[in-house]
Amino acid sequence: MSAALEGVRIIPLEEKHIESYHRCLDAVARERKYIAFVEAPPLDSTRKYVMANVAAGALYFVAVDGVEIVGWCDVVPLKWEGFTHCGRLGMGVSKNYRRRGIGRNLMEVALREAEEAGFERVELGVFASNTAAIQLYETFGFVVEGVLKKARKLDGTYDDVLLMARFIGAT
Ligand SMILES: CC(C)(COP(=O)(O)OP(=O)(O)OC[C@H]1O[C@@H](n2cnc3c(N)ncnc32)[C@H](O)[C@@H]1OP(=O)(O)O)[C@@H](O)C(=O)NCCC(=O)NCCS
Repeated sequence: MSAALEGVRIIPLEEKHIESYHRCLDAVARERKYIAFVEAPPLDSTRKYVMANVAAGALYFVAVDGVEIVGWCDVVPLKWEGFTHCGRLGMGVSKNYRRRGIGRNLMEVALREAEEAGFERVELGVFASNTAAIQLYETFGFVVEGVLKKARKLDGTYDDVLLMARFIGAT
């Protein structure tokens, strides 16, 4: 399964992609705006964490330009009994690749495969200041279920976290 997009392909993440995925994650984190990390965790722990998640049924898709990972979207199942029908979604696209439809393509593939895999509910947290991501999520039918007020205080600035979710499949 892959979607062509000006030479950028959307494909499932494999272990060989981890170093490039880690660089992409780290660069987005270091923008200090959009995701909870301000830098990626160390490469080795990222590899262990991601591959353990994949082995446990998580979906990880990456956008690849040549051999470089320029975006990702993951849906990680919640672990606890009674919650495993839920997946937590995370995503990002490298700064220089934004606004070319890569985020939309990643989301399309991830939601299609999440439905196929039997997830019923996909949930996420997004900073209230992140209007681009919120716009994308709303386009795909995510709705705000709650707000964590002033949940982040970074560089002296507070941000709320919106809790968003959408249902898929038979629900
Ligand atoms: C959010 C993000 C993943 C979107 O990826 P992208 O590849 O730039 O998005 P696309 O080009 O596919 O755009 C899809 C839709 O998203 C919305 N969108 C994307 N960028 C936007 C922007 N700067 N302003 C407003 N809406 C925007 C629009 O609805 C857009 O549809 P349109 O092109 O028809 O207007 C990307 O901006 C990003 O990686 N941001 C930093 C990391 C991040 O925020 N991750 C999510 C954390 S919760």
